[in-house]
Amino acid sequence: MSSSPNSPIVCNLPRVTIVGAGRVGSTLAQRVAEKNLADVVLLDIIAGMPQGLALDLMEARGIEIHNRQIIGTNNYADTSGSQIVVITAGLPRKPGMSRDDLLKTNAKIVVEAAKNAIAHSPNAIFIIVTNPLDVMTYLAWQATGLPRDRIMGMAGVLDSARFETFIALELGVLPADVKAMVLGSHGDLMVPLSRYATVNGIPITELLDAATIERLVERTRNGGAEIVELMQTGGAFFAPASATSVMVESILLNQSRLLPVATYLQGEYGLEDVVIGVPCRLGCGGIESILELNLTDGEREGLHTSAQSVRKSIERSQEILAE
Ligand code: NAI
Ligand code: 2OP
Repeated sequence: MSSSPNSPIVCNLPRVTIVGAGRVGSTLAQRVAEKNLADVVLLDIIAGMPQGLALDLMEARGIEIHNRQIIGTNNYADTSGSQIVVITAGLPRKPGMSRDDLLKTNAKIVVEAAKNAIAHSPNAIFIIVTNPLDVMTYLAWQATGLPRDRIMGMAGVLDSARFETFIALELGVLPADVKAMVLGSHGDLMVPLSRYATVNGIPITELLDAATIERLVERTRNGGAEIVELMQTGGAFFAPASATSVMVESILLNQSRLLPVATYLQGEYGLEDVVIGVPCRLGCGGIESILELNLTDGEREGLHTSAQSVRKSIERSQEILAE
């Protein structure tokens, strides 16, 4: 239909749905809107809660100087036509809760959320944040039937940011000047690649001794737990939201950033049918390519050990979902 000079102009602004309006989800909504990346739909099962958060964020728009819409809802119909769906719904691990308890609860929540979201946004790219991250990404991939380039997990950007932070603190340099990459699963078997970490191109191996680097690597592996221990009432959410927003940005703005992303592997790094963090280029189609680095024997072994543990949890999750 051709439009007359007086018909209103309809702008198709990008829309990002965030399922789970808890601490990570609501902070991500703020990051996406205030970076002016997209309109945001914030969905949660708690009645009124996402609506209240959305109104609060809308009331900050004049002060933060942006005009993005933020909608709060309990209804998936309101998420329709989203370019990106981020799933943060589910419990964070609480004291006394086993990994298996977390797996049981979150597996069901993530599968249901993924199925509902894809039904209303069949062309969306999905980013999973809920823990245990690599397993939840695998389950969401299964539940949606999406090709692997359109569904991924966020963990490596956060783990790398933590490693960069600890290096910057140790050396007293600007965090933005430090670049590092952490591969593998999101947990204590992650694989920080120290020999690729640099400060403005200078390898950290030229700046720090081996024992110090090992201490920073250990702190990175324990990064999530360190914050839970300090806070006692939940986990990290500011840096996780920032890390997720970087992935959203690279996709929406087609930046082709090379980031560590949890993705379904089909033979890369000698691994099959498992989701794990590896370097990926993220652009408007999702994962544009996977970079296969030449790893040392030790790094490769670390990655395979990490993948084995994810595979075990995937097997357990299949039993849980079949119960
Ligand atoms: P939170 O408890 O603050 O928020 C979770 C939200 O999910 C709650 O508002 C809850 O009502 C909602 N929810 C539960 N079931 C739902 C359903 N069926 N549909 C829609 N919403 C539902 O938790 P937080 O701190 O925001 O963490 C969320 C998840 O992200 C946790 O599993 C946490 O472990 C994980 N996480 C992962 C990180 C990563 O690097 N991948 C980093 C930080 C957190
Ligand atoms: C984090 O790394 C617990 O995954 C969460 O902070």
